[in-house]
Amino acid sequence: MNDKERVAKHAADLVRDGMLVGLGTGSTADYFIAELARRVDEQGLQVTTVASSVVSMLKAQEMGLPLVAIEHLTRLDLYVDGADEVSPDNTLLKGQGADLVKEKLLARACDQFIVLVDQSKMVDRIGARFPIPVEVMPFAWQLVKQSLELLGGRGNLRKNSSGSGLAISSHGSLILDMVFERNLSSAQLDTILNSTPGIVEHGIFHQLASVVLLAVDGEVQEM
Ligand code: A5P
Repeated sequence: MNDKERVAKHAADLVRDGMLVGLGTGSTADYFIAELARRVDEQGLQVTTVASSVVSMLKAQEMGLPLVAIEHLTRLDLYVDGADEVSPDNTLLKGQGADLVKEKLLARACDQFIVLVDQSKMVDRIGARFPIPVEVMPFAWQLVKQSLELLGGRGNLRKNSSGSGLAISSHGSLILDMVFERNLSSAQLDTILNSTPGIVEHGIFHQLASVVLLAVDGEVQEM
């Protein structure tokens, strides 16, 4: 069993009968979905799930998990997802996929947000390894980019996987991948990005994680 599977299994063991569970996106979340489906099949666990992306919805469907659409929810019990970076205060960087808006909606609406990572995701500051994804209304990208450049940011629109066009989020936004100078903390950046017109959502998840499950040397640590 690899580290991602190990933390995913640990999280799946925390699910109880009757829970409404949010399903994250990525390889770690996929292990969680598979393990949850196994518990439903083999142990008769009763759950309803909600997907954070088209990819996790298809995975849940393939595994036979009962799904409800996000538009029918006002809350959920648990949301389980991976992250691209985790800083020492449990701030997350997310959004290498194309469904940041749903991911943050679920992270805000759940009673408990469990984040699953291995040691490769631990950083001393948010933005250490990846640029910060900033989803923008298509017509606003240039104005947003300019206002972030005035704060010391630099970056550009994300390309699609073939490199021949632009990446489009699942609901039609463009994505600016921005690098900022070290003088701005992730809390300050979170505030700035939250209040910049034209930004739909961004990848800093500040004070949203309830617990981070970290796989180290074959053990799972709760942080
Ligand atoms: C999806 O948009 C991201 O926020 C993922 O949570 C992240 O990329 C984690 O992926 P892995 O579990 O594959 O590392």
